[in-house]
Amino acid sequence: MDFALTDEQQLIRETARDFADNVIAPRAKDNARNHHFDAELAARMADQGYLGAIVPREYGGAGLDYRSYGLVVEEVGRADSSARTVVSVVTSLVCSAIVKWGTEEQKALYLPKLCTGEWLGCFGLTEPDTGSDAANQKTRATKVQDGWRINGSKMWISLGNVAKVALVFAQTDPALKHKGLACFLVDTDQDGFQPTTIHGKMGLHASDTASIALDDVFASDDQLLGQVGDGFKVAMSSLDSGRFSVAAGAVGVCQSCLDESTAYAVQREQFGRPIASFQLVQAMIADMRVKTDAARLLVWRAGWMKDTGQPNTTETSIAKLFATEAAVWCANEAIQVHGGAGYVDDHPVERHFRDVRVTTLYEGTSQIQKMIIGRAQTGINALVPQ
Ligand code: CAA
Repeated sequence: MDFALTDEQQLIRETARDFADNVIAPRAKDNARNHHFDAELAARMADQGYLGAIVPREYGGAGLDYRSYGLVVEEVGRADSSARTVVSVVTSLVCSAIVKWGTEEQKALYLPKLCTGEWLGCFGLTEPDTGSDAANQKTRATKVQDGWRINGSKMWISLGNVAKVALVFAQTDPALKHKGLACFLVDTDQDGFQPTTIHGKMGLHASDTASIALDDVFASDDQLLGQVGDGFKVAMSSLDSGRFSVAAGAVGVCQSCLDESTAYAVQREQFGRPIASFQLVQAMIADMRVKTDAARLLVWRAGWMKDTGQPNTTETSIAKLFATEAAVWCANEAIQVHGGAGYVDDHPVERHFRDVRVTTLYEGTSQIQKMIIGRAQTGINALVPQ
């Protein structure tokens, strides 16, 4: 693996950095304070090509490789994790599934609209009683003439209120367990699709999060993504992309915490000198730097493996586990460096601290990532009684 970025990757990174600093960051504090899902910002990110970053150009995407996509997501995440969530969900969880599993007709219908931001998408896997055990879907899909009727409920769905198309995972035959799952491209403009905003989140206040009731929702046969029985693999392959994206965003949070802490420590004086001159403060900043670099390199490795066609589920889990835990740690330390000033939202570290906490939970908890890594390392599936 070559650590040097190509000229094109450097340009992509600089453009994303500029966009993050000048367009995303200035809105982040007010959007969070006002619990405002910024649809206009989502449209601007689509204009930049970020909502279809890894989608081939022939379907309206930017056609980026994963390493370049990771650079973009890092910069967006550095400015605002709520904005980054829009990129991760639409690009990785929704578009990557359609690219991998969709028919030509489905790709031609959905991808251009998602890439341009005309439509947003959401990923309906999690249910009130189905989180880590994703195969245990309670939502049922029943075959009817020309299609399917879907009944059940989904929980913690990012963009659930604003999506025009929802990937909905449902069980077609409980006896088949995960081999009975199917994924549907559900049109949210129907009476049976009823999203409700989830209030009271710790962070990601500018990100839309919904529970969704599915009451006899209809999906035509043409809206089945993959075959009946492919649903679990569709979900897992989407998460291979989604976890990469969350990890890249977490690197951005680490970098912001490092930058903000360094700048603050250099100018803030106590005992007659900058607090950056104290070894205990330098130690916090040095540890942040080490974790940031290590997280980034793990993300780059996972991206390189994706770009070179190698199996990468384990390495993606390693990147997601390390980067998200590092970001939670860095945000906590950054507040420590800032002292009381870090406890209010005048400094972005306060928002990072609240926003990034969810990244060790969603798209697979840290414990699930360790289980995947442990299984790959030992050859023993911890979910199967020995
Ligand atoms: N890609 C493709 N196929 C895969 C795969 C992958 N990455 N991983 C597994 N599979 C396949 C396996 O090959 C296997 O196929 P066969 O039936 O043909 O043998 C099948 O899927 C079942 O695999 P496992 O036996 O490994 O499945 P499991 O039940 O033991 O465990 C798990 C899987 C890792 C625990 C999984 O359930 C998991 O990742 N759980 C966490 C769920 C999760 O991340 N949820 C996040 C929700 S989305 C979200 O948070 C977004 C938001 O908007 C907030």
